[in-house]
Formats: sequence, structure tokens, C-alpha cells
Amino acid sequence: MSASLRVKGGIPLVGDIEVRGAKNLVSKAMVAALLSDEPCRLRGVPEISDVQVVSGLLELHGVTIDSTDRDGELLMDPRNILQAHVADIDAHAGSSRVPVLLCGPLLHRLGEAFIPDLGGCRIGERPINYHLDVLRQFGAEVEKRQDGLRLTAPERLQGARVVLPFPSVGATEQVLLTAVLASGRTELRNAAIEPEIMDLIAVLQKMGAIISVQTDRVISIEGVERLGGYDHLAIPDRIEAGSWACAALATKGDIFVRGAQQQPMMPFLNVFRKIGGAFDIDDEGIRFWHPGGRLRSIALETDVHPGLMTDWQQPLVVALTQTAGLSILHETVYENRLGFTAALADMGATIQIYPECLGGSPCRFGRSDFKHSAVISGPTPLVAADITVPDLRGGFSYLIAALAADGESTVMGTDLIYRGYERFGDKLDALGAVYHAA
Ligand code: EPU
Repeated sequence: MSASLRVKGGIPLVGDIEVRGAKNLVSKAMVAALLSDEPCRLRGVPEISDVQVVSGLLELHGVTIDSTDRDGELLMDPRNILQAHVADIDAHAGSSRVPVLLCGPLLHRLGEAFIPDLGGCRIGERPINYHLDVLRQFGAEVEKRQDGLRLTAPERLQGARVVLPFPSVGATEQVLLTAVLASGRTELRNAAIEPEIMDLIAVLQKMGAIISVQTDRVISIEGVERLGGYDHLAIPDRIEAGSWACAALATKGDIFVRGAQQQPMMPFLNVFRKIGGAFDIDDEGIRFWHPGGRLRSIALETDVHPGLMTDWQQPLVVALTQTAGLSILHETVYENRLGFTAALADMGATIQIYPECLGGSPCRFGRSDFKHSAVISGPTPLVAADITVPDLRGGFSYLIAALAADGESTVMGTDLIYRGYERFGDKLDALGAVYHAA
């Protein structure tokens, strides 16, 4: 049975919380350990269920893992890796998209890999065609089976010249994790350059990889014969930090997010300032608050880095319901990431979604029927409702809406939020939120 929270809204969130390592780096740095023939140490690892899933997958492949929970330190020893049983890998299917990234490392270490049907948030089709195309270019053979995919490397994988159709985060990571031990050079064009990818490159460099990031989304990798261990402090989670910032704005609160860093959050900070939110940056973190008065509407577009990242979109939409005038949002990364707005409309928000590319430049979804643009008219008071978490980021945005709404809401399916927001209950307590398990 999934967990539910009864949340009393209308109370400003005020206080100090901390964010640790980014979910979208930590899981990949853990996979990178599979490439090593020495122990690896990752620090700042948050207590989120995605980390448990990846830990389970690594353990199935013979990696021994030691963790010290509160310090967020993970020690991974990949010296005795082995082929996992298909049924055991399959038992992990449905909970994460990370298994696809195990392919390159497992092909290098074992000559084969099995990828079960993938899970992850239901925010679009989320195919893995780029991943498979890339792996084939390195020389992998892919066989489709009823329960997933079996990949084999008849000989050592070879460096390749890869051009991605879209700067996909996962496909870029796939290339990096495969090219570092492939023979010869790899040149990747149209790469994603998210800060979490740069941090993964830093991890790989510590392990002995040779990777250069050039201008215009070009990354070159010179394959090496072996990779050693690493000791790395994960980049902080800018998605979680932005989510709490939106919670501060929507509840008229004031939150210091310890650990938040300015550089990777610049696109978010610009939007936050333009709509009238206040922030103050110091060496320890960033304080976000509602300065009083009216918030301003805005036209914005999500995009790959250095654009406004799609994972900030859902929490921001809740804050935009409290701005004066018409806001326009164009989601260009996922074709189906606006479905969560229906419940916000039930809570009193005025939001309409459209298939056209509104407000910005035409995107890949312009000729499809996917409703990927939204018009939000505000400010509208939100009223309590019973709502069910649709996906990770949508789920956190429902929590924000419930905290901002007048009355008591029931938010169902809150366990999904633990995929990416560690100890959010403790953090809500620290911020003075009033809620209890329903
Ligand atoms: N795409 C394809 N084919 C592929 C791969 C991607 O068409 O083979 C498309 C996707 O369908 C999507 C777009 O390319 O429309 C971008 O997908 P991308 O590969 O960049 O996303 P991802 O690697 O699957 C990661 C994060 C997401 C985050 C995106 C974009 C992880 C585990 N997930 O996903 O995070 O939204 O990059 O920044 O790193 C989240 O944290 O809630 C989350 C969904």
C-alpha cells in the first residue's frame, strides 16, 4: 500500500534545510564503479530510493557496498563482478531507468549485459533507441528477447564517431561510460552538457579516463586500457534545491537551502528573480524567499542545459499559479510532462494546456498532438483537494500545492517522492509544515 499524507496548507515554510548529492549524478557515478578494478568511494550520497535500486543492481553484479547512512558515504568494491541472474535483474525493472547505463561497463567487464524492461517516471515515451544505436556503433550486438534485451560484445568495443539526434542526458552518459574503456578515440557530437554530466566526467577522470569537453557540445574520449577507483564528493542536487525554492515562493515562506550552489542553478535563479522571488547566495547555500507584494507572470521554455531544466518545471508551475497575469510555459524536453496540471486546476488554478509550441521557438513536438505548452493565469488561490502523486517531480509539486492551499489536502502515493527527495518529511518538519500520515 502506498503512503499518503494529510497536509494542512496556508502555512509559510520557514527554516533551514540541506541538499546533498544530485540523484542524477549519484546513480551514474555508482554505475561508473563497475568500470573500475579498485574500490570507489562516493560521498554526499542522499538517502533516496533510486540509490537503493542502483545499489541492489550493483550487488547483483557482485559489487560489495558499504554505506554509512548519515554521512552519505558509499564504498563500492567492484573487484569481483559477475553476471547477474536475469530474473534477479528483472525484479528491479520498473523502478529505475538506470539499468540501461550498465550496458557499456558490463560489456567491457563481462562481454555481455541484460537489460530488463525499463521503468522511470511516466512523463513521455522515453525510448532507449539512442542508447542502443550508440552501443551498436561501439560494436555491441543487441538481441531483443521477450523479457528485455541481451547485449554482447564479440570483441573489445571500439571507439566511434557518434552524433546524437538530441542532446540526451542518458545517451551522453552511455557514450561516456562505454568510450572510456573502448579501444581508440570516440568523438561525441550534440552531447548533453548538464552539470551532472560534467561531474560524471570528473569522476571518470579521477579513475584514469581521458576526456575533453570542447565547444559546441563536442566531447572527445581517448579510450584507456584500465580504470582505477575514485574518491568523489557528488555535486549537490540542483533539482531538489529549486523545488524547495518554489515551495518557499508558493507558501510565502523563507527557506535557506544549505548546499545549493549558484553556478548550476543560474537558469533557475534568473527565472526566480524575474517572477519576483528573492534569493541571497553565500558560501554555504542559497536563501530563497517571498519578498511580499505581487509576483510577476513570465513566458518560459524548458531546454537542455544551459537552458531551464525540465525537472524544475513542475514545482515552478505551482509558483506560477500565484503570479499576476498570464504565464506561458513551453516544455521542449518531454512531450508529456504537463498532465500533472489537471489536479492543480481541480485545486483552483487556471491552467490550460495546448499541443502548439507557445511562446518560444518551435520544438520537436510541434507537429504532434502532445500537449506540451501551458498557459497559467494567476494569481488564483489554491484550495485543498485529494490528489495522487503522478511522478517524482509532479509529486513534489503536488506537495507544494497542498502546502500552499487553503484547507487540508490528502496527497496520495507520497512514497514515490522518496525516489528523489531524501527525508522530505524531516525537512518539512524543520520548515514548520503541518501534516500527518493519512
Ligand atoms: N530520448 C529518446 N531516445 C533515447 C533517449 C532519450 O528519444 O534513447 C528522448 C527522451 O524521450 C526525452 C529526451 O530525449 O524526450 C531527453 O531525454 P534524456 O535522455 O535527456 O533523459 P534521461 O537521461 O532519460 C535524465 C534524468 C531526468 C531528466 C532528463 C533531462 C536521470 C536518471 N534522469 O533522464 O530526470 O529529466 O535527464 O534532464 O538522470 C528526474 O530526475 O525526475 C528525471 C526525470
